[in-house]
Amino acid sequence: MSLSYTELANSVVTKMPVYEPGKPIEYVAREFGLDPNDIVKMASNENPFGASPKALAAVRAMLDGVNMYPDGASIELRDRLAKLWDLKPSQFFVGNGSNEALMILGQTFLNPDCEVIYGEQAFVVYKIATILAGAKSVPVPMPNFQTDLKAMRAAVTDKTRMIFITNPNNPQGTVSDPDELLAFAESLPEHVILVIDEAYAEFTDKTPDLRPLIAQGRKIVVTRTFSKLYGLAGFRIGYLFGSEEVVGLMNRVRQPFNSNLPAQVAALAALDDREFVETTLRGNAEGVKTLYAGFEALGLKYVPTHTNFMLVEIEDAGKVFVELEKHGVIVRPMKGYGMPNHLRVTVGTPEQNARLLTALKTILNK
Ligand SMILES: Cc1ncc(COP(=O)(O)O)c(C=O)c1O
Repeated sequence: MSLSYTELANSVVTKMPVYEPGKPIEYVAREFGLDPNDIVKMASNENPFGASPKALAAVRAMLDGVNMYPDGASIELRDRLAKLWDLKPSQFFVGNGSNEALMILGQTFLNPDCEVIYGEQAFVVYKIATILAGAKSVPVPMPNFQTDLKAMRAAVTDKTRMIFITNPNNPQGTVSDPDELLAFAESLPEHVILVIDEAYAEFTDKTPDLRPLIAQGRKIVVTRTFSKLYGLAGFRIGYLFGSEEVVGLMNRVRQPFNSNLPAQVAALAALDDREFVETTLRGNAEGVKTLYAGFEALGLKYVPTHTNFMLVEIEDAGKVFVELEKHGVIVRPMKGYGMPNHLRVTVGTPEQNARLLTALKTILNK
């Protein structure tokens, strides 16, 4: 047989970048002969304080019901989200992680004639959604680790269908100026859909309220996730809000039961878990201060963060990444994002932060 599956594949598939997740603990344990219980993962911006206890209790109580399909329309969750945001339930799309919402936006609105603008070093899923649709990527440089709104506006053409902006940015941890972002949103022509990915927005008060512009009919959608603040990354649940029309179109594209039953139950309960939210925000703010002080003591530069992770500048970061693994600390190398001298570090618990800083001190001979 000389014909390969690759030759038979949809031609866009071979052009797609492969999403590289943070290395799982079990891989690193096997690779370096370490005890998995002694490894700390600070690589995927997960919640180091665990999951919302209320969410876990709610899921435990419903497990006997998993012989049934979930509510494909996520009615209860969308009702609750509508109250939270003071919008209509029909303005919410619930997805298998916000990642799914981003992919379905691409499937719903992009085709090979379209151009899609996003930051050159932005979250890689925008590129994947673009390429999968056969659309043209228009990456815009991100000077000083920031989204360059002026350059993005200048890149808009008659063919631009979508712009992805992460706010706060991942992997940079920076935010756009709220007024500038609103002015940017208002300046866009009506054939452009502006996607604001707010996966980390709960960690800052610097993101603007986009609902008034959505109410005016501006083509803006916002994505949010339960993976970070609420600690539900393993359940895979996130959402998008925008106009009823956008949501209606996206609902045609999604699987009938795209968001699973335990995830919906967990998300509903997590929204009412103020205590866990406050524990996480407080712990994160303390962790950020600890890491700033620790990096400064080691003479390392970092990018000030508005999120639960940060970029730290280290010469030969790829080597340091491997050395950290040997010390049982998993972080994220940034070479794939064109930043070979940076590591991205998720803010951890006090113990995890101390492990990272101690390991770095040893590795860097400081
Ligand atoms: C910027 C950004 N957007 C979206 C996501 C997807 O999150 P999830 O699919 O877990 O909701 C992530 C996950 O790391 C992210 O960093």
